[in-house]
Parts: sequence; structure tokens; C-alpha cells
Amino acid sequence: MPRLAVVLWNADSDPADERAGIFRVVPSPRCGADWAYGDRLSALAGWHRRSLPTWTPWVAALALGLIVCQGILGGLTVTQLLRFDIVTAHLGTALAFFATLLVMGTLLLPYKGTGTVGKLPWFSLTAAVLVYLQSLSGALVGSRWAVHQCLEGSQLCSVMNTHLVGVFPAALAALTVVGVTWRTPALSREIRKLAQIVGVLLLSQIALGIATLRLHLQVELLTVSHQAIGAALFGTLVCFTVLAWRDRAFAPEES
Ligand code: HEM
Repeated sequence: MPRLAVVLWNADSDPADERAGIFRVVPSPRCGADWAYGDRLSALAGWHRRSLPTWTPWVAALALGLIVCQGILGGLTVTQLLRFDIVTAHLGTALAFFATLLVMGTLLLPYKGTGTVGKLPWFSLTAAVLVYLQSLSGALVGSRWAVHQCLEGSQLCSVMNTHLVGVFPAALAALTVVGVTWRTPALSREIRKLAQIVGVLLLSQIALGIATLRLHLQVELLTVSHQAIGAALFGTLVCFTVLAWRDRAFAPEES
């Protein structure tokens, strides 16, 4: 009988899964960091409930609810002729759906931590929230045509400036994650890799933002990449936060 599986990590084909009729819904891309080599993550929604943690169907239901909202907002985006608040809500829901799947996948990964993360989970959670808010402010800039309105008619400059000023808290929080990870000894390889990816994505995102602005949004590839790298940065921080939280369970008990 066909079964539903969400496979987030690369893995070689597993004959046992194939016998069980598990499909890959997400083709197995290699996760940027080469972690969890050879491990297969299969989160089965609905079926196989007994062999999964009890929270799995609830989180899957949340993901389903978000994607239904996303569909409705997508329809409204068209019928309301790209109304800016609906466009922004559409991006916000898309990112929330993305984060839900990442949290689910990262929680189901086999992971052996070192219990040395300290306050890193809080730092990365803060950074993820700030990057999320920064993304919403970017969606407002795009959907209100704030760049053109500000540069050509001195209107909506506050919307554009909010996005520019918002770079500082978001970047500072993400850099704190990178710096603290760097300086913390004995962290797991997975957490270190994710921090490196955060650093690279943050620098790329800022460079793309500056290029987008300087070229007055004339190069579509830059604008689209700014959106995509922003989402990748947010997603990496979400994965980092979940793993860092899981790492705390490995901390030696205080006597
Ligand atoms: C952490 C840093 C940043 C994040 C997460 C971020 C995220 C975003 C997102 C998600 C959008 C919406 C794109 C769309 O809907 O098409 C956007 C738009 C924009 N961002 Fe950023 N951004 C960041 C930094 C910057 C920087 C440093 C600049 C320039 C100095 C910048 C300039 C712009 C501009 C001009 C737009 C409007 C593009 C348009 O009108 O289509 N961003 N940003």
C-alpha cells in the first residue's frame, strides 16, 4: 500500500522503505551541510502513527492548516490585485509553513549532542524571529513599491528605511550565533556546520540587498535571489535552534 513520507535528508535508497511502499515526497537534496551522511529521515504523517512520536500528527496537521491558509491567501492575492497586506501575509504564512516542516524534520533526525550549547538556543531563536520580521518588512517594501515611491517621489521612505534599519538587529543576532558557536568548544559537527552556513547566507543576503537597491530593482535575478537567500537564512536558523535545543538534553546533570 502506498505510504506518505517526507524525506528531508539525503540517503541512499533503502530497500526496507521501498518494500514498505514509502514514497519520497521531497526528492532527497543534499542538505547544504553534509551532515547526517547516509541517514534517512522519514516522517510519516497519518500512517505509521504508532512508530512516531505522539506530537508528529499534530505538527503535520499544523502544516496542513498553514498550507490551506496559504492557498486562500494566494487566491486573495490575485482577486485583490496584489493588495500589500495580503501579499505580506502570504509570505509570512509561506515562511511559517517552511519552518514547521523544518522543525518536524530536524526533530526526527537522529542526533547525538554534546550538551555544551549553553545559551545558543536562545540566541538562534532570537535571530530566527528577527530574520522572520525582517523578511516581512522586505515583503512590505516590495508590495508597496516603496523603493520606487521613495526614490522618485519621496513617498513611503519610512517603509524602505524600516527595512534598512532592521538589517542591524537581524544581522547582529545572526552574527552572535556565528561568533558564540565559533568560541564554544566541543560543539557537535552539525551545529558548527549550520553556524557556518548562517554566516555565509547572512553576508550574501546583505550583499544582494545592497546590489538590489543600488541597481533600482532592475535585475530580477538579484531581487529573486534576495528573497530566496533570506528564506534559506531563516530556515538554517530554525534548524540550528531545534538542534541546539535538542543538544541541551545531552548536558550532564548538575549535582
Ligand atoms: C537579514 C537581512 C535581510 C533579510 C532577511 C531581507 C529580506 C527581504 C525579503 C524577504 C524581501 C522581500 C522580497 C520580495 O518579496 O520580493 C526583501 C526586499 C528588499 N530588500 Fe531585503 N533583506 C535583508 C537585507 C537587506 C539589505 C541589507 C538591503 C539593502 C541595503 C535590502 C534591500 C531590500 C530591497 C530594496 C527590497 C525590495 C525589493 C523589491 O521591491 O522587490 N535588504 N528583503
